[in-house]
Amino acid sequence: MSENILETIKLFYDYSGLQVLTGVDLQVEKGERHAIIGPNGAGKTTLFNVITGMYSPSRGKVMFKGKNVSGFKPHKLSRLGMGRSFQITSTFHNLSTFQNIRMGVLSRMGIRFNMFNRVDKMEEVTKETNAILERINLKEETHAPADALSYGKHRSLEVSLAMSTDPDLVMLDEPTAGMSRDETHNAVDLIRRLTEGKTMVIVEHDMDVVFSLADRITVLHHGKVLAVGKPDEIRNMKEVKDAYLGHRREV
Ligand SMILES: Nc1ncnc2c1ncn2[C@@H]1O[C@H](COP(=O)(O)OP(=O)(O)OP(=O)(O)O)[C@@H](O)[C@H]1O
Ligand SMILES: [Mg+2]
Repeated sequence: MSENILETIKLFYDYSGLQVLTGVDLQVEKGERHAIIGPNGAGKTTLFNVITGMYSPSRGKVMFKGKNVSGFKPHKLSRLGMGRSFQITSTFHNLSTFQNIRMGVLSRMGIRFNMFNRVDKMEEVTKETNAILERINLKEETHAPADALSYGKHRSLEVSLAMSTDPDLVMLDEPTAGMSRDETHNAVDLIRRLTEGKTMVIVEHDMDVVFSLADRITVLHHGKVLAVGKPDEIRNMKEVKDAYLGHRREV
């Protein structure tokens, strides 16, 4: 039996009266890559923001590692081990790629060891930072300011930054939005490598990305869970097809 690292129980959220989440029951197992999909306006981003503490739920619970974390602020969730991709505006623009990643490595070691000031620890930090840069193919851009990176590389840096703190769960909201086909392909490869054996929740529009990354999928529709299953099951579900088609007809 696998355990749920993240669970939402009858989660509701409304924007001053507009009911957007209407009782979401989501279950994410430890060690899986879980995608949340659904037609435009289904409530995916809102759900992401409630889980990651940007918004407080109107009703219902968010359980993380068995603890009720409803309404916890992002920094508190991050300390508990929930990482999220940083938005493009919040990577450290004038720091180099190296310095950005080092921030993540430092914060992780700070939490675990609290030994910033030890020279041997700094050597370990530098080594680890370089190893990450190698893994994410940004070795050549080590000294470039984050600002100078291409859009795709910048977004990859965001994901890497989220992973460099080694969270127990990482939450990604459309990490490939706005990328070209090639950039998307590279980003999917990178995310797959970085999240191997880890727990990830990804909110994503792009079906190719979802089907190539997710172990399991939850489909949201009108602020509720419409279906849960493996990619192949979801692909063939009539109600899922109908939800997407119905939506397209409305637009
Ligand atoms: N800040 C806001 N204030 C009021 N209504 C909002 C706000 N943000 C989102 N909404 C509404 O909530 C509903 C769900 O939006 P949300 O962004 O969560 O959906 P989504 O599934 O992420 O959609 P998309 O696929 O377009 O990203 C939509 O009807 C949207 O118009
Ligand atoms: Mg969205």
